[in-house]
Amino acid sequence: MKIKGIKKLEGEIKIPGDKSISHRAVMFGSMANGETNIENILLSEDTLRTMECFREMGVEISINEEENKVKILGKGLYGLKKPNKPLDCGNSGTTMRLLAGILVGQNFSSTLIGDESLSKRPMERIIVPLRKMGANIKGIEDKYPPLKIEPTERLQGIYYDLPVASAQVKSSILLASIYGDGNTKVIEGKSTRDHTERLLEYFGDKDFSGRDIYVPGDISSASFFIVAATIIKGSSILIKDVGINPTRTGIIDVINAMGGNIKIDNIRTINNEPMGDIYVTHRPLKGIELDSRLIGRLIDEIPIIAVAAAFAKGTTKINNAEELKYKETDRINAMSNELKKMGADITPLSDGLIIEGRERLDPASINTYNDHRIAMALSIAALNIDGETEINNSQCVNISYPNFYDGIWKMVE
Ligand code: S3P
Repeated sequence: MKIKGIKKLEGEIKIPGDKSISHRAVMFGSMANGETNIENILLSEDTLRTMECFREMGVEISINEEENKVKILGKGLYGLKKPNKPLDCGNSGTTMRLLAGILVGQNFSSTLIGDESLSKRPMERIIVPLRKMGANIKGIEDKYPPLKIEPTERLQGIYYDLPVASAQVKSSILLASIYGDGNTKVIEGKSTRDHTERLLEYFGDKDFSGRDIYVPGDISSASFFIVAATIIKGSSILIKDVGINPTRTGIIDVINAMGGNIKIDNIRTINNEPMGDIYVTHRPLKGIELDSRLIGRLIDEIPIIAVAAAFAKGTTKINNAEELKYKETDRINAMSNELKKMGADITPLSDGLIIEGRERLDPASINTYNDHRIAMALSIAALNIDGETEINNSQCVNISYPNFYDGIWKMVE
């Protein structure tokens, strides 16, 4: 994809459903009794993997692509059937880690596999607590996929202090606890997204019956437009119906702290999740030191925050973000290499980045490392650069936001 600098972004956009909530809605709908109808669900490579895995276990899932709707005929907590082949989670860490929590409670064996990137991502973080609960789960060297799961005699609740701030680990344990005896409590030092907890409450804890779910727009996808409209002079946009769960809104706090102009209006609650409309207008930014307590609330937005920082006045420091190394690619390395190609002054750290802002950056040929968020972040940088930037392998945006580029072009004159 070749991207030229634009004059401004203007207008209204509705972005696709939240990825984390979409995965979980499919999981809960499949484990519930009866029909679950999901509206505004994200239909992307990652969420389709989750749907395929449940189809493989006998769940009837009908997808209406035109209307972004999915109907699930849930099998009940004990109605899943043994899959005939390994469950392929593709690139999706959420699919693998959350599904593992569900599978350790089943009376059949199963195997979870992933693509090249997922096969290198850490799984010890779920293997350790799930085993403490009594699960029979193994990985390669007990660290990496494939994960092999066998039925266990008994799964029990756990009191677990999370060693890494991870919503995926927390959710895996909570999902396993549905099948376990006794109570489970997960303690987190830094708060992470709580969509699993909210859906557990919405579905009625252990008495699961099908529900209707409307998936709010994904704030992580919205963040690319939030930063684009902030850094590109003359821009003014409205992003409709975005999920504004406080465990996800770190990006808004950070951009506003850098001097941005983001306002939220029309706040309402839908199936236990807050949603609102986000207004963004251009403002020059200044560098800041990110509060480390914020990291869990914006971990997926650090690549786009790095882009904002690259155009801000002064220094931005991001620490305590070592987790970025274990995402779809090493995002510290990727952002530092590629922003440097654009002429940015950026220093990688073992747990973050230091960025000295510049007034302008230069076009370059950009590697995406097949990571959707790296591709989208650097595409936004390209919109604010005179000349033509080449984003290689840009189709990896399909992992979380298949119509990302159409969304941009609709708001450009
Ligand atoms: C997710 C949690 C986060 C996030 C990922 C989705 C989830 O990962 O990076 O994109 O849906 O629970 P960790 O919880 O591993 O940090």
